[in-house]
Amino acid sequence: MPYFHVQKPVIIFVFIFSSLLITSCQRDNSSHAFSMDKAKDNWNTNNHTWKESQLKTLEYGHHLYQLNCGGCHGAKGQGQHLIGAPALKNNSLMKGDPQQHIKIVLQGKPKRSMPAYKNILNNKNLAAIISYERNAWGNNSYQIIKESQIQQLRK
Ligand code: HEC
Repeated sequence: MPYFHVQKPVIIFVFIFSSLLITSCQRDNSSHAFSMDKAKDNWNTNNHTWKESQLKTLEYGHHLYQLNCGGCHGAKGQGQHLIGAPALKNNSLMKGDPQQHIKIVLQGKPKRSMPAYKNILNNKNLAAIISYERNAWGNNSYQIIKESQIQQLRK
């Protein structure tokens, strides 16, 4: 049956392709879904009591960090010497004055490959990412940055 011989590889290809597509979508959905139990587990830092809304911000910030910043600063905030991206873990900027931290992310250092995010990310997303950085990897500032703090420093 020549007809079948032509069709079989196509059918197999379509089958494999669609199952890959379905599994990758499922993985995607589950990693973005918010779970309060998981969030409480992730942010059980020194038994600090986070409000539910704060945990949501930190988890959202984590997601956005991985998408926007982790490529250069490392998934664990360890930095990347090759491109001169400093570690954000154990970085005094993360624990000090939030204004300095916010300004650097808004304005970037374009000549030194740190992008300016003022025209890339909105106040909500920047507040979430910066809150995340200030509390992840043992930075433990216990501060959540407000959208209004970002807005004030936009120029
Ligand atoms: C293309 C690579 C790249 C990306 C993407 C990137 N950065 Fe950077 N970042 C850098 C480099 C390089 C520096 C160091 C600039 C310098 O020499 O002062 C830096 C510096 C910083 C600093 C200052 C650190 C310090 O100790 O002075 C902060 C804070 C920062 N980045 C946050 C972020 C955030 C938040 C994001 C995502 C929204 C991000 N970066 C995305 C490359 C990057």
